[in-house]
Amino acid sequence: MNILAIESSCDETSAAVIVNGQIASNVIATQLIHAQYGGVVPELASRAHQQHILPVVTKALSDAKVAKIDLDAVAFTKGPGLLGALLVGTSFAKAMALGLGIPLIEVNHMQAHVLAHFITAPQPSFPFLCLTVSGGHTQIVRVNSPLAMEVIGQTKDDAVGEAFDKTAKLLGLPYPGGPLIDRYAKEGNPLAYPFPLTEMPGLDYSFSGIKTSILYFLQKQVQQEPEFIPKNLADICASVQHTLIEILMNKLKRASRETGIKEIAIAGGVSANSGLRKALVELAHKHQWKTYIPDFEYCTDNAAMIAMAAHYKFLAGDFADQSASPMPRMHL
Ligand code: KG4
Ligand code: ZN
Repeated sequence: MNILAIESSCDETSAAVIVNGQIASNVIATQLIHAQYGGVVPELASRAHQQHILPVVTKALSDAKVAKIDLDAVAFTKGPGLLGALLVGTSFAKAMALGLGIPLIEVNHMQAHVLAHFITAPQPSFPFLCLTVSGGHTQIVRVNSPLAMEVIGQTKDDAVGEAFDKTAKLLGLPYPGGPLIDRYAKEGNPLAYPFPLTEMPGLDYSFSGIKTSILYFLQKQVQQEPEFIPKNLADICASVQHTLIEILMNKLKRASRETGIKEIAIAGGVSANSGLRKALVELAHKHQWKTYIPDFEYCTDNAAMIAMAAHYKFLAGDFADQSASPMPRMHL
């Protein structure tokens, strides 16, 4: 069984081929154009997807050594994401499915981030909890089976990736700033500047308050000492990262306690963060958790995870038709 999968929800144009449940190729074209604007510009993202999609799909098929006529289905990201960006992948997939006379499969991007754990071993066993942390989302998902997932906690405002990126912007670092904060944090003192931990009821998160307190803190310090940011960059990054991880982990601990589940996974772009990975290892030790972190390549946006989700949907006979359209605010 050969499935081609296409991902175009944000600023990565990606295509992958899955053969009998094994990823045979995963090609990703990252759009560098957004860096100069300090964030993803939706219109530019759509245009870049249009430029990249044909070469990316062609390479994914040739890397996998699978001919178009040997495809059994075409899958695409239906949402959540940017409408114009999603439209490019959706239209391309629909045209290919129609032209080749094969089924179409629509995939939820957030479900796919969770299913990235089934691309390589070791794989979590069911039920497990997955903390999905990206530039657009922060949620704790209870995963009962590959296609049965339930959001048990989520952010009520900004995503944690946004908090990383917006802090980086305040510090004058280029977009996306998350990986740079991670890098500078390694040389800083995480307890140098204590920021307040925002508490939300239940298992939900909020990151807009912390963002504002970082802004006020920096404004005040820079007023007193204009060189405050460059002089203390490592300590600021380490302290911000420490606080964001603390907020993430507090709710994850609570979710594990409340559900009694000790199989714990993390997914999404922010799971590449080295401080988060370290905190997870420490908690695993303390609470006897079994933890799972996907390979870096499958943490950030990629079509291999879409292909993995499509594989399960194909087995379940869950197909779409030519009336399929993107759903920018799609829920799990
Ligand atoms: O999953 P992803 O590639 O795209 C979305 O679906 O949003 O996640 C991108 C997010 C960005 O906010 C980026 O800054 C963040 O993941 N990120 C990191 C790191 N690597 C990527 N944040 C903190 N530390 C990192 N090492
Ligand atoms: Zn994503």
